[in-house]
Amino acid sequence: MEVLGIVGSMRKGQNTERLVQTAISEMLRLDGTIDSSLIYTSDLTCNPCRVICHKANCSVHPFQCSIDDDVMQVLERMKRADALVIGSPQYFRGPPSGFHAMIERMISMAFFYETAGLTHERSLLADKPCGLVAVAEYSTPQTILEYLHDFCLLLKMRPVALTAFPYLGVGGHGNLETDTVFSPLERARQLAERLLNAMLR
Ligand SMILES: Cc1cc2nc3c(=O)[nH]c(=O)nc-3n(C[C@H](O)[C@H](O)[C@H](O)COP(=O)(O)O)c2cc1C
Repeated sequence: MEVLGIVGSMRKGQNTERLVQTAISEMLRLDGTIDSSLIYTSDLTCNPCRVICHKANCSVHPFQCSIDDDVMQVLERMKRADALVIGSPQYFRGPPSGFHAMIERMISMAFFYETAGLTHERSLLADKPCGLVAVAEYSTPQTILEYLHDFCLLLKMRPVALTAFPYLGVGGHGNLETDTVFSPLERARQLAERLLNAMLR
């Protein structure tokens, strides 16, 4: 079994990665048979969706895109993994643009194929258990959690909710150590437990 972490931050080793890694480390601590790997979108080339090509490509060929960059490779690794932990910071009110380009392309592939209504193949990521992490400093991380949650639903994944605030996933708000409202490090460990249960079900 493998859990794949995706770090959407441009900064390696900082808050987003720390929370993604905390969740994954806790999963490995709870179950020593699990493998893990990490993707940094800052290492990738992810171009925006061209949209105008969908009728010849992703609308008729499920989860195929004509753009030659790293997005299809990430999608393949997401498909192979048994669970995902996806983390993104907030940059100027939204997610980092490189990370968003990847998300946009994956949503486009799912959306255009489904709305073309030609066939009814399952989403490539259907029922994939997925834990979410969002980090912000001045704004609430809830905005990015909602964005990531939407992404999961559009790809028909299974986002794992927390039983404590902010429910949709782990929220980092400012200093991860001292924040007692979002309690991100504690919630990352709670997320691990729930994701592990979802993965083994
Ligand atoms: C370019 C940039 C833009 C940012 N914009 C926002 C913002 O709009 N709202 C906010 O709350 N925090 C903003 N921040 C703060 C980050 O969300 C915060 O520093 C977070 O920890 C970054 O994630 P990282 O530690 O993984 O890099 C911004 C940070 C950077 C570097």
